[in-house]
Amino acid sequence: MRNHRDFIAETDFDRDEVIETLALARELKEWSDKRDEPAPLKGQTWGLIFHKPSLRTRISFEVGVNQLGGNCIYITENEIQLGKRETIHDAAKVLSRYLGGIIIRTFSHADVEKLAFHADIPVINALTDLLHPCQIMADILTINEKLHRCEDFKIVYLGDGNNITNSWLNLSRLLGFELVVATSAETLPDMEIFNQAKAAGRSSVSISHDPKEAVKGAHVIYTDVWASMGQKDQLAAKVQALQAFQVNSELVSKADKNVIVMHCLPAERGREITDEVMDGPHSVVFDQAENRLHAQKAVMTILQEAK
Ligand code: CP
Ligand code: NVA
Repeated sequence: MRNHRDFIAETDFDRDEVIETLALARELKEWSDKRDEPAPLKGQTWGLIFHKPSLRTRISFEVGVNQLGGNCIYITENEIQLGKRETIHDAAKVLSRYLGGIIIRTFSHADVEKLAFHADIPVINALTDLLHPCQIMADILTINEKLHRCEDFKIVYLGDGNNITNSWLNLSRLLGFELVVATSAETLPDMEIFNQAKAAGRSSVSISHDPKEAVKGAHVIYTDVWASMGQKDQLAAKVQALQAFQVNSELVSKADKNVIVMHCLPAERGREITDEVMDGPHSVVFDQAENRLHAQKAVMTILQEAK
């Protein structure tokens, strides 16, 4: 019997749990300058298995686990060679005897699902080629802070249909909003995830190849790098396909006048987003980055309570 919960995909939480995460993250954010913060991870060591580089995710998780009273071990591919030196099953069983939880960033989403299935402790997806659920929780927290609502807004995602796009599609199954994915025919998101989001019927989801039309009335404009980690060899083709989808001042001027501009970072300034927009009055990218910490602390607390 499984006596723990994981956070591998947004849909591991239901709608009420997303709302609860937002409320708890807000509370933890207010608490973070005080000394009486709760310590649900006291006495625990969490493992951070990272097979791709990271600034925000690694550091916000390490800081977050520490602030919740626990410790972290950072584990790279060189050490455990997940699935190579021994099976994922065996690694999951052994790690479960030492750790309070596992935070993993890797390429294969199936590997993370397998690890979570065999582990006896919570496993959190810190980004795979398919999804980046921790980012999306921080994003919706930021939107809630800036727009004072977490539903009934129009978000236009411009650029490569990637793990961030797929995660936004997943969130649209839980909360109700209008999501337009503005991208080229060559850079679509995962169409199975898109179709599931459409079928769920909670949000209005669509794909547009016309960025200027798509951003009309947008409350949120979101972009990400055109070639994700592990796909940098596809950059030239992506640049060719996505030129018209750059987030620049002209495009931003066509959205709602109070539009917020989001980017999960790291950004390739001058490519998918201009300096003028990144550093301009609509940008909330650094609030978004800060909120990684608060949202993830809320997610870890909820998983801990479910044990
Ligand atoms: N946004 C994000 O996940 O950043 P890192 O790749 O630096 O962790
Ligand atoms: N889509 C990007 C997100 C980085 C946080 C990547 O996977 O590289």
